[in-house]
Amino acid sequence: MLNLTVLTEPAFCPHSLNKYASVMACGNGYMGIRATHEEDYTRQTRGMYLAGLYHQAGRNETNELVNLPDIIGIDVELDGENFTLLAGEILNWQRELAFSNGELRRSVLWRSSTGKSYRLESRRFVSLDQLPLVAMQFSITPVDGPAQIVLKTGIDATQTNSGRQHLDEISVRVFDQHFMQGIYETQDRASDVVISAYCSVSPDADSCFTAKNRRVTSHHSVNIAQGDTVTLDKLVWITHRSDKALSQDSFARNALSELKVCAARGYASLLESSSCAWESVWRDSRVDVMSSEPQDQVALDYAVWHLTAMTPAHDERSSIAAKGLTGEGYKGHVFWDTEIFLLPFHLFTRPQIARSLLRYRWLNLSGAREKARRNGWPGALFPWESAASGQEETPEFAAINIRTGIRQKVASALAEHHIVADIAWAIVAYWQATHDDAFMRNEGLTLLMETAAFWMGRATEANGRLEIHDVIGPDEYTEHVNNNAYTNYLAWHNVASAVRFMAMFERQDRRFTENAARFLERLWLPEANDDGVIPQDDTFLSKPAIDLSRYKEKAGKQTILLDYSRAEVNEMQILKQADVVMLNYLLPERFTVQQCAANLAFYEPRTIHDSSLSKAIHGIVSARGGDTERAYAFWRDGIAIDLGDDPHSSDDGIHAAATGAIWSGVIQGFAGIQIMEGELHLAPKLPAHWQKLAFPLRWRNARMRFIFEQDAVTVETSAPVSFSLWGTTLRACGHHVWSYKDFLISDNGTATTEGSHDA
Ligand code: BGC
Repeated sequence: MLNLTVLTEPAFCPHSLNKYASVMACGNGYMGIRATHEEDYTRQTRGMYLAGLYHQAGRNETNELVNLPDIIGIDVELDGENFTLLAGEILNWQRELAFSNGELRRSVLWRSSTGKSYRLESRRFVSLDQLPLVAMQFSITPVDGPAQIVLKTGIDATQTNSGRQHLDEISVRVFDQHFMQGIYETQDRASDVVISAYCSVSPDADSCFTAKNRRVTSHHSVNIAQGDTVTLDKLVWITHRSDKALSQDSFARNALSELKVCAARGYASLLESSSCAWESVWRDSRVDVMSSEPQDQVALDYAVWHLTAMTPAHDERSSIAAKGLTGEGYKGHVFWDTEIFLLPFHLFTRPQIARSLLRYRWLNLSGAREKARRNGWPGALFPWESAASGQEETPEFAAINIRTGIRQKVASALAEHHIVADIAWAIVAYWQATHDDAFMRNEGLTLLMETAAFWMGRATEANGRLEIHDVIGPDEYTEHVNNNAYTNYLAWHNVASAVRFMAMFERQDRRFTENAARFLERLWLPEANDDGVIPQDDTFLSKPAIDLSRYKEKAGKQTILLDYSRAEVNEMQILKQADVVMLNYLLPERFTVQQCAANLAFYEPRTIHDSSLSKAIHGIVSARGGDTERAYAFWRDGIAIDLGDDPHSSDDGIHAAATGAIWSGVIQGFAGIQIMEGELHLAPKLPAHWQKLAFPLRWRNARMRFIFEQDAVTVETSAPVSFSLWGTTLRACGHHVWSYKDFLISDNGTATTEGSHDA
C-alpha cells in the first residue's frame, strides 16, 4: 500500500496566490490548469494550457503556449454579498493537492462582513484516463441561517497571455438544460479549440444562460436552509486539432457527445477511473524514503506527480516546456532541460515516454537541418528554444534598458549549441537503458549522424588542432568563448557515439567515418591543470574572481546583475550554473573521482546557482564523491526552489528541470545510479536523515525494485540482470538481500575491491 503524501497550502495569503497556483496546478500531460481559486483576485493569474498548442500573436513575438479560455472561475454571491477572502474572516482553512489521485481540494469556513458564516468546499481534478476531461465540484453550506446563493460560471474567453489574445471566438452555443460550448480558432486559423462544459446544481436552482463579451455563462440562483448544502457539478471537455479532417461542426458535436457520457457517470466515478491511472504511475515510479524530515517524501511525491502531469506522453509531436503546463514562463518553450533533466526519470521508469520525447526531436529534424544550413553548417543544429514546429523560438531580445531604450540581445540561439550534443547524449542513454535497436537503427542513428555532422562542420582549425569557437556553455553568464569544456567533450562524445553505433548497426558512409576519425583525433579537449581543474574555456582561468557569497545567498534572483552589467560579469569568474561540474555529471566514465572533487571544489565558490538547473548537479557530483551530507544540503536547497518560502519564485510556473532534479538527486545521487560503459552501476550512500530508500527502476527488459536500508540492500527483478553494486558485479533474478558486510565499501562510498557475486 503506497502511503502517498499531500501538498498543503498552509493559509490563504494574497501574496502567494500565484506560487500555489503553479505548484498545485493539475495536469495530465495533455493539459495543465493552474490552481487558481474559483473566485477572482486581481493579482491571481489564471491559466489553462494544452501541450503543443502554440501560436504567434504578433510580428515581433515568438510562438507561445496559448492560455485558453478560463473554466475555473465561479462568481459566488452569498446573500447578496460577493464571496472573497479579502473581506470578512477566515474561520478555518484547508487546501491540499492529493498526489494519490491528483485531486485539488479546498475547504473554507468563512464569515462574511455581515456576520453570516458559510462553509465552502471545492474539489477538482484533471483526468489521467480521459485526457480532455476536467471535473469540478463546488459546494456551499450556510452555517447559521438560511441563505440565498447565486453562482455564475461558464467559459470565459477574455483570458489572455499577459494581454495577448490568441484565439478568435467562432461560436458559442448552449444545449439542453446543462451544456455550453465555445468554438475558437487560433488567429492564424491553424488550430481549432473546442471547449464544452456541463453544469448542474443540486438542489434544483433557477438557472439560465447568457453569452456576452466572449463569455458564455450559466447562472444559478437557489435558496437553501441552514445546514443544507448546494453543490455545483461542472465537467469540461477540452479538445483541439490542427488537422481539418472533420468539419468543425462534427468535431464539436463529437466533443459534446463525449462530455454527455461523462456527465452520465458523475464526479465520483470519473475520479475513480482517473485514480486507477495514477495508481499505475505510482507503481512504476514512486520513490519511498524514510526520513526524519517529512518534507523529503512530499518533495519526491511532488516531483513524480509533476513529472507525470507535465509530460505529453500521448503525443510525440509535443515535448515538455520549461515550466511544464503550469504557467507562461519561457512562453512554454522546450529547452535542453527535457533531454538532460527530465528524460532520465522517464528512461528509468517508463522508457516508452523517453522514446516519445526523443521522437519529438526526430520529427523536428528538418527545422534543425534548416537552422544549420542557414548558418552555413552541415548537419542538424537544434533550436535552443523550440515549440511545435522545431523552428528556433528564442526571442531575439530580452530585458530592455528603459532609460536608453536599448534592448539586450539574447545570444543563446546564436551560440548555445551544446543542446545538439545534449540530444545525442540522451539518445545514447536511451539505447543503453533499453537496447531498443529498432529506434537506434532508424531515428537514433540518423539523429546521431546529423548532430555529429554539425560538430564536424562547426569545429575550426586553430593552434594546430580542431577547436570550437564562439559558444555559450551551460553557464549563461559566460558568453562567446572558445573551447568551452562542456561543449567540446560532449561534441566529442556525440561524434564518437555516431561512429560506434554506425559500426554496431552496419551503417556505411566512408566519408563520414573518415571525417569523424579526424575530428576525434584532433578536437581539443581542455585538460585538467595540476590541481585537477578543467578550465571552463580558454580564458576563464585568467579572469579575476570576486567574493560571491552575498549573491549566493540570494541564488536564483540574479542579484549580481544589479551590481554589474552582463558584459562585466562575462569578464569575471562567475558562473550562473553548473558547467564543468555538469560535464563531470554527464560523462562520469571520463573523469576520476579526484578530478570531479577538484572541479567541484574550484567551481562551487564561483557558482551563484542563479539557474534552477544548478544546485542539484553539484549535489549529485558531491554524492558520487562520497560527501553525502553536502549532497543532501544541495538537494534540500533544490526542493526549496518550488516548495520553499519564497512567495514569488514560481509565479509563472514551476521549475520543470528542478523537479526532474529532485528525482535525479536521489536516484543518481544518493542511490549512486550511473550508466558507465553501457552498464548499470549503483553505489548507494544515504544521508544521515534517511533510514531507508526504496524505488522501482526499469533496466532493459527487467522491472527492478531496490530497497536500501541501514545495513542491507534488497533487489527484486522480474528478469535476469547484471549490474554493479559498489564495484562488485552482481547477477540477479528474483528476490535477493545482500548485507553491506558482503562488500568492502570505502568512506567515499566506492568499492575498495572488485569482485562478482552470482545470486
Ligand atoms: C537556464 C538554462 C535553461 C533555461 C530554461 C535558464 O535560466 O540558464 O540552462 O535551459 O533557463 O529552464
